[in-house]
Amino acid sequence: MGPGPLLERTPLGGRRVFDSGFGGVLLVTNVNVVNIARWEKNMHKYKDQQHKTGEARVEIKGRTEEPILKLKDKWPHLYDCIDWPRISESSFRMVEELASKAADFASVSSGGRGELYRQAQQDPSVRSIGIRRLFEFVSPNQDLASLSPSYKILDVLGGDGVLSRALKNLVPHSSMPSILTSDLSEGMVAAAQAYGLFAIRQTAQNLFLKDRSMDGVIIAYGTHHIPPNNRIQVCQEAFRVLSPAGHIVLHDFETGSPMSCWFSEVVDRYSITGHQFPHFTAEEIREYLSSAGFADIDIQYMYDPFVVYADSADEAKRKLAAYLLNMYGLTKLVNERGYEESLTLVYDLTCEYFKYDEKSPLFDEHFRHTQVYIGREEEHWYIEAPRVAIVGSGIKPH
Ligand SMILES: C[S@@+](CC[C@H](N)C(=O)[O-])C[C@H]1O[C@@H](n2cnc3c(N)ncnc32)[C@H](O)[C@@H]1O
Repeated sequence: MGPGPLLERTPLGGRRVFDSGFGGVLLVTNVNVVNIARWEKNMHKYKDQQHKTGEARVEIKGRTEEPILKLKDKWPHLYDCIDWPRISESSFRMVEELASKAADFASVSSGGRGELYRQAQQDPSVRSIGIRRLFEFVSPNQDLASLSPSYKILDVLGGDGVLSRALKNLVPHSSMPSILTSDLSEGMVAAAQAYGLFAIRQTAQNLFLKDRSMDGVIIAYGTHHIPPNNRIQVCQEAFRVLSPAGHIVLHDFETGSPMSCWFSEVVDRYSITGHQFPHFTAEEIREYLSSAGFADIDIQYMYDPFVVYADSADEAKRKLAAYLLNMYGLTKLVNERGYEESLTLVYDLTCEYFKYDEKSPLFDEHFRHTQVYIGREEEHWYIEAPRVAIVGSGIKPH
């Protein structure tokens, strides 16, 4: 005897009985022949789609997983933080859509300034003073010595991992936390991975991480790139992925500050990407953090200078100008004036804009200079270009 008829519910709601070995359709209830033909067509399409969706999921997971697989042994606890079901075809499409709209840090060939930015970041020490402070804010006791490899920090707008690379030169191995670098830009993530860092591509708005998986979250150096109507969502995502008692630090430059004028007047005018992004007020930062649920919110001004060293004062000036020319992608200036003249102009603009009021009540013991300063340390010369950032910190309550 052959196998008996099989009963299967059709996508059209009827039942179809078909013989699995001895002939065609035997019985159809409440589904007519036309519907069967349509159903068969739909079923093929549906199976095909399922197959493709499955393949896409595997491919997308593979694209995220493949580059970090070799880092899995070094940071198994970071790998375990990834919430793979969140990395779907649709969530990945959202990453790509956002990346196509926010293309400032994409490659130069696609209209961005990614390569120039990364060229500047080859030396992570230039922003060490501010980076050290950020890690102090996010550490358990506001002290780098309280960090350890078991402490997991997410660097949300991580770029090519400059924060991680700078910190490595500031603390002994025993105080180096495990840092998960992430970014919207594919090129940035690839560059961070090429430095051997644990880096994944995700948006600040929709993190691909498990709830309560991180001890600290840093959102810094580029927070103004997040549209104002997404900022609460970004803080909520940070809240979600933090463990109770976890620390957040949100860094940017205050609306109306010398740095925000530098961005809207100099960078906007001379960068290939332009730069019209709304910065932050202290009240806004407090509001975002408290709406997301954070407690112990504190808003502070943070000394965050650029410091470059060289063998002579002139070389230091040139080095600082080259750094800023690249970091801010001031290509239009180079096209207008040529490279050498641009260096002089960028240095003059830096002296003009990076200037703070000496009598400002903002200044605490961390502040060293209120205008561009040229100094000497043993046989080296250095230039310090002062910047003041605004930083909000908070703790996820138990
Ligand atoms: C100014 S860069 C800073 C990178 C790095 N933190 C540093 O200090 O060099 C800002 C970074 O934020 C990334 N970014 C912008 N919007 C983002 C978003 N919505 N989600 C994740 N990353 C984003 C950009 O791709 C860029 O790499």
